Amino acid sequence: MTRMRCDRTPAWRELQALFKSKASTFDLRNAFATDANRFETFSQSAPHVFADLSKNLIDSSVQQLLFDLARQAGVTEQRDAMLAGVAVNSTEQRAVMHWLLRNPALSIADSEQSAIKNVANELAQVHATLDAMLAYAQTVREDAGITDVVNIGIGGSDLGPQMAVLALDGYVLAEKRFHFVSNVDGHELAATLKRLKPENTLFLIASKTFTTIETMTNAQSAKAWFEAKGGTDIARHFCALTTNVQAAHAFGISTTFGFWDWVGGRYSVWSAIGLPVAIAIGPQGFREFLAGAHAMDEHFSRAPIERNLPMRLGLLDVWYRNFHGFTSRSIAPYHSALRRWPAYLQQLEMESNGKRVDATGEALPYATAPVLWGEPGTNGQHAYFQMLHQGTDVVPVEFVAVKAPQHNLPGHHTLLLANAVAQAQALMVGKVDSGGHRHFPGNRPSTFLLLDELSPASLGALIALQEHRVFVSGALWGINSFDQWGVELGKVLAQDVEARLGSGDTTGLDGSTAGLLCRLKTPWPASL
Ligand code: F6P
Repeated sequence: MTRMRCDRTPAWRELQALFKSKASTFDLRNAFATDANRFETFSQSAPHVFADLSKNLIDSSVQQLLFDLARQAGVTEQRDAMLAGVAVNSTEQRAVMHWLLRNPALSIADSEQSAIKNVANELAQVHATLDAMLAYAQTVREDAGITDVVNIGIGGSDLGPQMAVLALDGYVLAEKRFHFVSNVDGHELAATLKRLKPENTLFLIASKTFTTIETMTNAQSAKAWFEAKGGTDIARHFCALTTNVQAAHAFGISTTFGFWDWVGGRYSVWSAIGLPVAIAIGPQGFREFLAGAHAMDEHFSRAPIERNLPMRLGLLDVWYRNFHGFTSRSIAPYHSALRRWPAYLQQLEMESNGKRVDATGEALPYATAPVLWGEPGTNGQHAYFQMLHQGTDVVPVEFVAVKAPQHNLPGHHTLLLANAVAQAQALMVGKVDSGGHRHFPGNRPSTFLLLDELSPASLGALIALQEHRVFVSGALWGINSFDQWGVELGKVLAQDVEARLGSGDTTGLDGSTAGLLCRLKTPWPASL
């Protein structure tokens, strides 16, 4: 497989020269003034998503060189390797096949012709599990005795399903309540349990590994609560979603849906981890969710680089991070149902590409994943948009807006959309004022993603778009986007600190850690 680190390509050097000579002073206002077709040139449609990229700090010469960069770094070859089931997760020797989870089933005849014939067995397993899981979801939907579904999981075993159940509120079965417990902080579980009755509750224990301490602790406590309150039928009230079915059985859960080690945690909402979504929106809705993502997969795998939206977004990310030096991207979903969208993207991008070495372990001489952050609009406008408009840092903003509302409150949606468009406009055009305080520098970049409606299919496509865009920037940076060794050290140290909190032993610790342990060991008033 051709793979060249981005900084070793001729295009990288050309981009550096171009940045120095003129691209660093690029002005969006001039660009629009001199090019009547800029909006058409720098916008495009992809399945379920329209993207306006025209308010970004690029012109055709920059874009051409970015396309060259993708070609020279071998991004398409790396994409094709992932889509052929090659073990591109090199540090864990695993294939990366979350995309297979949304591939339609193949007939035997098709599978012989298909580009994915080498993973036909895996695809058959995917569909067998999907059918079983959706049948189970339907049973739960029809079970009037179950009023509350509690997902216990963290990271990818929480963020994806939680974000999707909230986002698809308009499709969610009204007769059931959905709860998501992720934090090991007992306040979260205790607050949830307070509102539940064991006989009406289904706990979904979601953990790829079934070893994650937060999830296991919450699952143990949920089971203890269930039994203490007289609950008896574990098979009806507990279901495990995991690759480690054996551990789930050992825990005492017999109702299980499995998945595979080639599904990364942050890419797992399409697998059994998506069960809360399937219960919430129903089997047909879940199949539409998968189909929307599959349509984006097809676009990513087939569209030429120049008209390939995930490619264009991933290239822009590298342009901003490594040439302009922007350190963050603000995520602005103008739809309150997308309120967990920024958090979901944080894990997707920062856990995937927050790496300081390349896939061979060599330290990288350039920056990688930016910080992602944000809140739904218009709330963000009354909090931190001040900094976006007039602060000293330039922060590219990624808007997401939805044309059709799912409510009958006349005027609200027009006002919401007007604000989204106006914010992007204001960031770009700015306002000249000699007074200083009222001056807006403008020329601040943004991308505007527009969906016709927020449906299972469009949400599926939007998520897959982001997954692939993260793949593209990771491939350019030469990193393995599919491991997460950076979460390990804290886990190990937490075990040590937990033991020391019991024993009070601070031997060998740094002064601050020892000091904090002593403070924590000091008895606090019983009233607390
Ligand atoms: O934070 C590390 C991580 O491994 C994530 O990648 C993953 O989504 C999360 O923990 C939860 O892991 P599991 O599903 O195995 O409980």
